[in-house]
Amino acid sequence: MDFKDQNSTFRLSNGVEIPCIGFGMWQTPSDEVGVASVLSALEAGYRHIDTAQAYRNEQCVGEAFRRSGVKREDVFITTKIWNDAHSYDLVMSSFDESLKKLDTSYVDLLLIHWPNPQALRDRWQAANAETWKAMEELYRAGRVRAIGISNFRKHHIDALLETAEIPPMVNQIKHCPGVIQTEVEEYSRSKGMLLEAYSPLGTGRMLESEEMKALSEKYDRSIAQICIRWGLQRGYLPLPKSITPSRIEENLRVFDFEIDEDDMNYIAGIDAGVRNASNPDAVPF
Ligand code: A2P
Repeated sequence: MDFKDQNSTFRLSNGVEIPCIGFGMWQTPSDEVGVASVLSALEAGYRHIDTAQAYRNEQCVGEAFRRSGVKREDVFITTKIWNDAHSYDLVMSSFDESLKKLDTSYVDLLLIHWPNPQALRDRWQAANAETWKAMEELYRAGRVRAIGISNFRKHHIDALLETAEIPPMVNQIKHCPGVIQTEVEEYSRSKGMLLEAYSPLGTGRMLESEEMKALSEKYDRSIAQICIRWGLQRGYLPLPKSITPSRIEENLRVFDFEIDEDDMNYIAGIDAGVRNASNPDAVPF
């Protein structure tokens, strides 16, 4: 891994460059706090923001852009199609809504948020095929620069690939010490996808781990920085979330140290009580 700073990029299978750390917005409030956190992120140097229709904070991104003066084309923006929009028409209309809220004319990366919505449990394959068709059309029209999936496991990927004309470029999954989805990881990579890591700090649980505290002393870096660096060194694109300016800034400072191989393996096995990734075929939404 030879990333030198937060402007370093992963290259997607279609050639699009994606800044190697993204500002995660799951559980970021949809009010002024959300706007302020995006502004802090832009100020700290993040050039990649990860939101979703379901987070209800896309408009915070739009508002932060209006206030920040940062150029739209300098920032990579991801949003995700929610479970209530898994049809051709609903992708198109909800995408238009997203663009309005984000105050932009295009999105850099559009993902299917979950493969198997509760309401479609008996026909998720057909619904994903139709959803993907609409996303391919948005891609071909230049309204999104890349398309991908999130929370997909092997059987969801296989089903999607039966009808997809354009293969997904990204799979965004839960990934942090103690939560490694080896099969999804290997399969996604074998199909050319970049893996993105949500909850890279175990939604904060890693911060309480005694093992991580010892490593923090050893490397003279914060636990959060070690988790983020560990994700990067595993070839994942981490998406840390914070609403706290000092932490937002701290989470980008992960390019001046390296975790050795023994510790990489050790960290992988640390059990800090982080919840496993939800079973996408059983989520209650
Ligand atoms: P907050 O948003 O109040 O700053 P994850 O990215 O795994 O979902 O973790 C997000 C959680 O971790 C949030 O509760 C966030 O708190 C907290 N967090 C994020 N960055 C740091 C950090 N550098 N130090 C301590 N806690 C952090």
